[in-house]
Amino acid sequence: MKSRTSFRVLAVDDRQDALDIIQHTLGAAGYQVTTVTSAADAVRVLEFVSIDIVISETTLYDVIGLDFIRYVRENFKDLAIVILTDAPCIDSAVLSIKEGAEDYLVKPPDRERLLSIMDRIKDKLILRRQIQEENTRKSYGIIGNSPGIAKVIENIDKASAYNANVLIQGESGVGKELVARAIHYAGERARFAFVPVNCTAIPETLLESELFGYARGAFTGAGDGREGFFQIADGGTLFLDEIGDASLAMQGKLLRVLQNKEIQIVGSGRIKKIDTRIIAATNKDLLATCASRLFREDLYYRLAVIEITVPPLRERREDILPLANMFIAGFVKELKKDPPEFTDNALETIKNYQWPGNVRELENCIQRLMIITDRAVIDVSDLPHVMRSNTEYRIDPMKTLAQAEAEHIRAVLQATGGNKSRASSILGIDRKTLREKIKKFGLPDSPPGNFSPPGKNSPEHFSS
Ligand SMILES: Nc1ncnc2c1ncn2[C@@H]1O[C@H](COP(=O)(O)OP(=O)(O)OP(=O)(O)O)[C@@H](O)[C@H]1O
Ligand SMILES: [Mg+2]
Repeated sequence: MKSRTSFRVLAVDDRQDALDIIQHTLGAAGYQVTTVTSAADAVRVLEFVSIDIVISETTLYDVIGLDFIRYVRENFKDLAIVILTDAPCIDSAVLSIKEGAEDYLVKPPDRERLLSIMDRIKDKLILRRQIQEENTRKSYGIIGNSPGIAKVIENIDKASAYNANVLIQGESGVGKELVARAIHYAGERARFAFVPVNCTAIPETLLESELFGYARGAFTGAGDGREGFFQIADGGTLFLDEIGDASLAMQGKLLRVLQNKEIQIVGSGRIKKIDTRIIAATNKDLLATCASRLFREDLYYRLAVIEITVPPLRERREDILPLANMFIAGFVKELKKDPPEFTDNALETIKNYQWPGNVRELENCIQRLMIITDRAVIDVSDLPHVMRSNTEYRIDPMKTLAQAEAEHIRAVLQATGGNKSRASSILGIDRKTLREKIKKFGLPDSPPGNFSPPGKNSPEHFSS
């Protein structure tokens, strides 16, 4: 029998004595048990803790029991329900089973029957999950039920069945690399390497040798020679990240390889045929970049045979809580601590926030809340300032453009935890420009967590 310890039970009853029996019996057997005395509390727990089995009284004071059970049925489809009932109410228990409850227990619950029902449900859930896991594998571990994500997954299905080049577009932190990996690992190239390359990170002088490798003795210090990214990814996939920022020199070299499907190793006359699939990603509008001549249109068309756009998180708000739950579950495992509870207002704030840094910002936010904040209950005041001031952060028609710009830059810096390279990519400006603006507006230029509140350095004091 599989261990009971990974199973979480939530017991709801307005009376403590039945709850005590459940807590002792199941707790001693290794189940993780949470008990609450009202449906309202139960709903709150369900919102943020992943519960496997609910044991509930049918007639709760604050909500009619059957409605609570229906609520659970409709909102938490893979959760099992057991009804707790007084002897004269067995009829209603039977009715609840018709509504989808697994079984019922008469109060005071018999310990043996309680445990046998739980073990039976546990085994059933394990089986059901194995099936679900197989299905999730089909969605490549990408969380989200929004139409936007469904479309992305559909496109991954198609892309993984072909060898055509793929261009993935989307704001910073939306999951472009996750999509690229999904395409690679779902296809026939999975046996070979997935090689991520950041197009902005290769110095111009090393461009050719990094991409195509060099032969023994090609230059001083060349030693025995080395393979380039294209050779390492031969048979597999080369992931060209931030392709929109690739230099024109790099674009030219890439285009040549894509046209000829061969490379020339630096320092040798040798031409090598290569079979490397290209998946490129950018947070820029690449066609617009073509129009401004910073990106070669011929290269764009070679890359964008299949185009996948990952929508920003604020355009698929229904994915926010499932993603948050996934990150919480991950950190719970890693940090070996209980998941925090979130107040209704905190949840509301999380759902309504704009998430300029998208899923990565959400992940960082949850991590900070669990490690740095380290509270059992998380309220709005524990959330980063930028999320709380969301409502204040509106365009004020009486502001100068410079003031609005300064405030926006401050908000993005705060959202990215002071990471200038991410902030600049969200803002659509290069890092140098960002640094200049930080200086010009007197914004705090400090590591994360040290942002001073608007005050003597606030943009109002600076003219432009
Ligand atoms: N739908 C999703 N389901 C699960 N995890 C996700 C999802 N989207 C993003 N993530 C996670 O969020 C983080 C950021 O994703 P990723 O690195 O793929 O974004 P990106 O678009 O490449 O960002 P950037 O433009 O900044 O490079 C990763 O940890 C990734 O696993
Ligand atoms: Mg990325």
